[in-house]
Amino acid sequence: MISFLHQVAFVTGAGSGIGRATALAFAGAGARVVVAEINEESGRETVGHIHQSGGDALFVACDVAEPAQINAAIQQTVDTYGRLDIAINNAGIGGRYGRFTEQTPEDFDRIMAVNVGGVFYCMQAQIRQMLLQQKGTKAEGKTAESNPMESFPVGGRIVNVASIAGVRGMPMGAPYSASKHAVIGLTKTAALEYVKQNIRINAVCPAYTNSAMVDGLISAAPAMEDRMRRMIPLGRFGQPEEIAQAILWLCADDNTFFTGQTLQLDGGLTAG
Ligand SMILES: NC(=O)c1ccc[n+]([C@@H]2O[C@H](COP(=O)([O-])OP(=O)(O)OC[C@H]3O[C@@H](n4cnc5c(N)ncnc54)[C@H](O)[C@@H]3O)[C@@H](O)[C@H]2O)c1
Repeated sequence: MISFLHQVAFVTGAGSGIGRATALAFAGAGARVVVAEINEESGRETVGHIHQSGGDALFVACDVAEPAQINAAIQQTVDTYGRLDIAINNAGIGGRYGRFTEQTPEDFDRIMAVNVGGVFYCMQAQIRQMLLQQKGTKAEGKTAESNPMESFPVGGRIVNVASIAGVRGMPMGAPYSASKHAVIGLTKTAALEYVKQNIRINAVCPAYTNSAMVDGLISAAPAMEDRMRRMIPLGRFGQPEEIAQAILWLCADDNTFFTGQTLQLDGGLTAG
């Protein structure tokens, strides 16, 4: 089992679905987890689950569409736990289910602010903190020599939650698909910019996964459910826990050569 003992993991949108499953999985693997959520009730519920199972977690109210709230959330993380090792930028919205011509400027702007701006400003704040920590470790002399697996100083890990809609078109979801393509662009670019600082940055691209988001999509278009399932060669939706396990693997200490990649978790959808 992968261990994250004593490490600090920051997860956005951790009050529900994939974010909650990821927060619980990190806590189960020994990490101290920061639950950054716009919905205080669901965020505190996740923290409650972690405490009940003996883990350590902190709730931080945060709307990822607001850069000032993101900076404050990272600061609160460092004030409480002293550092940031892992960041999972998961918070996202699905937007309006409708044709290209039906999408309004408000639909487009909100989805871009949350799904793209949220990931961009989160990564900015997280990378700044990870770089600061490296200066600290260098000053203490704990550089690559103390870790023979690394050719660079010990850095951080970031995973952005994109989507299969970030690698292919999604009819009736143009702003969503555009936002997830952008997340992949941000992931690859940041991974290249910070490769020498050993901050590994990857994205996961799930296909339909059981969560409030998919429930919302199905209630907007109930006739779609069957077709959505049939699109996936495995014949079922993913489970949030399956996505969480992949995210943990991406963040593992000994997973040292994997960066700038998109990992498709799609029941075979993009294999065809
Ligand atoms: N469920 C799927 O089929 C699927 C597939 C591909 C990608 N994704 C992506 O996975 C991520 C998680 O989605 P989910 O399916 O678990 O949905 P979900 O609706 O269950 O969870 C999303 C969480 O993000 C939070 N959130 C929304 N806006 C926020 C904001 N502005 N600031 C902070 N938190 C905010 C919500 O309160 C909620 O807790 C999203 O980025 C989504 O686009 C989901």
